[in-house]
Amino acid sequence: MSSPEALILRELIAGEPGWVSGTALASRLEMSRVAVWHHMEKLRAQGFAFEAKRAKGYRLAGRPAGLHAALIELQLKVRPRGFSLVVLDEVDSTNDEAARELAAGRPAPFAVLARRQTRGRGRFGRAWHSAENGNLYASFAFRPRVAPERMQTFTLWMGVNVCELIVNFTHLTPGLKWPNDLVFDGRKAGGMLTEARVDSDQIRDLVFGLGINVNSPPSGWPADLARRAVSLGELAGAPWDLNRLTAALIGRVLLAYGSFAEGEHAATFADLWHRFDVLRGRRATVLEAGERHTGVVTGIDGEGALLLREDGGRTRRFRAGEVTLEK
Ligand code: BTN
Repeated sequence: MSSPEALILRELIAGEPGWVSGTALASRLEMSRVAVWHHMEKLRAQGFAFEAKRAKGYRLAGRPAGLHAALIELQLKVRPRGFSLVVLDEVDSTNDEAARELAAGRPAPFAVLARRQTRGRGRFGRAWHSAENGNLYASFAFRPRVAPERMQTFTLWMGVNVCELIVNFTHLTPGLKWPNDLVFDGRKAGGMLTEARVDSDQIRDLVFGLGINVNSPPSGWPADLARRAVSLGELAGAPWDLNRLTAALIGRVLLAYGSFAEGEHAATFADLWHRFDVLRGRRATVLEAGERHTGVVTGIDGEGALLLREDGGRTRRFRAGEVTLEK
């Protein structure tokens, strides 16, 4: 990330909310002021706007609404050694692209983001609506090298971290619907899809996929989703800065992975889950392996399995399944 454009952005962001003089920019970048101006034109074409004032210099007056690799990188506050970021215009699925990159030997951790997906996937092989609409489609690749049992609560742990980050960033409070939905009042604002390749007794690699409805307008959903989906922008009444939110999310996911890998999550996980859990105490039906079980959700156990007290009084645990809340 050392193109002249990225360097100009770095200087202007570092100088915010102040101005950066054209002479200072030119000398720091070791180029002429005409060359600086030329690179700023390129940035304008990417959606940036600059204010220019005689005797003061320049400052950023507008940023692109869509994903911008350099802008995300510049705003990353957490960056483990060797981390890399891939930002694509279009891909079949960021999870699939991350898996291909892992198979090709790309050093982990890394993240793959795309402006749109042509075959975005959710749980149970369902399609994940992935138009270029200001939403986030992201996958994070890791090589944990641990026994698969160690990862049982991984998606749930990521879920509580993503929720906390959303609370801190937007002051909106999402709920978690076990095991992988981010919801507001029953409407889905995000989903997670963790996929791992396992050797005989070890995880070879793992992809954590995250889709968040950040800025899609209410009118933008296909008819079948319109009632069930919501975006953070719709809830706030204004769009969010997608690149800043993405940088914050990347940082949080990387930190959360680190604490999970070290086993540090164990102390706070149950409390955090409880804080965001929208199922506990509610009557629900769990569909698992073609069978329906109805009762009251009492929470999750230490392995992340859902606990349902059935009407007969027996508590069943589910490692997988789909939950529907009773109205
Ligand atoms: C679900 O709710 O069923 C999970 C949805 C996960 C969607 C994300 S979008 C980025 C990543 N790439 C995919 O194909 N899926 C995940």
